Amino acid sequence: MLVTLEGIDGTGKSTLLMALREKLADLEPVFTREPGATWVGESVRRAIAEQIDPITEATLFVADHAAHLATVVRPALRDNKLVISDRYSDSRFAYQSVTLEGVIPEPEGWLRAMHNGWSIVPDKTFLLAIPVDDALERLAEKSGREHFERREILEKVQDRYLAFARAEPGRFVVVDALMEKEELAGFVADAIRQMVAHGRKQKRK
Ligand code: TMP
Repeated sequence: MLVTLEGIDGTGKSTLLMALREKLADLEPVFTREPGATWVGESVRRAIAEQIDPITEATLFVADHAAHLATVVRPALRDNKLVISDRYSDSRFAYQSVTLEGVIPEPEGWLRAMHNGWSIVPDKTFLLAIPVDDALERLAEKSGREHFERREILEKVQDRYLAFARAEPGRFVVVDALMEKEELAGFVADAIRQMVAHGRKQKRK
């Protein structure tokens, strides 16, 4: 089963992941991430830091996804493991469709087409949603901000994410990231646990 966590920067995704590691330890999930589950992630980080060019950046993110699928996600799913990925394809569809605006004609369609035929759609995606002001406040405490972490960008990115959630209500669960940390982690952990239990029951039938 493949579960992904998505949301703009500053939603508290890292804190949630730390709590999930503890709460779901008995399920022995494979925790992974994009970018950076493989060495391709280093090229992505470099391209982001140098702001080299939006198409280079987008295609490197896709390359990172391909390497992630080949070396981490597919093998784990083949072994029937629970995979929890911190960011995944929806990050590309949300962020790069904004960074490629005005660069290519239909960024979202182009990005989705690049994934067609080989990528794996997650079984469930938890989208952490937050007022952009709160996200920026949380990010202000962090040093070394990336060029994505600007109000205009984050507002658009979050709008895209929310549109994806409306389009695919069966896959997305929108979570209020302003919820108290422990309550939020408890909610997500319980939802994942239920899905895993349900999945096992279906398999036995
Ligand atoms: P991180 O902060 O979760 O490590 O992600 C790094 C940044 O990269 C974050 O601002 C989101 C962005 N990102 C994209 O723009 N496209 C992608 O496909 C992914 C996976 C991340």
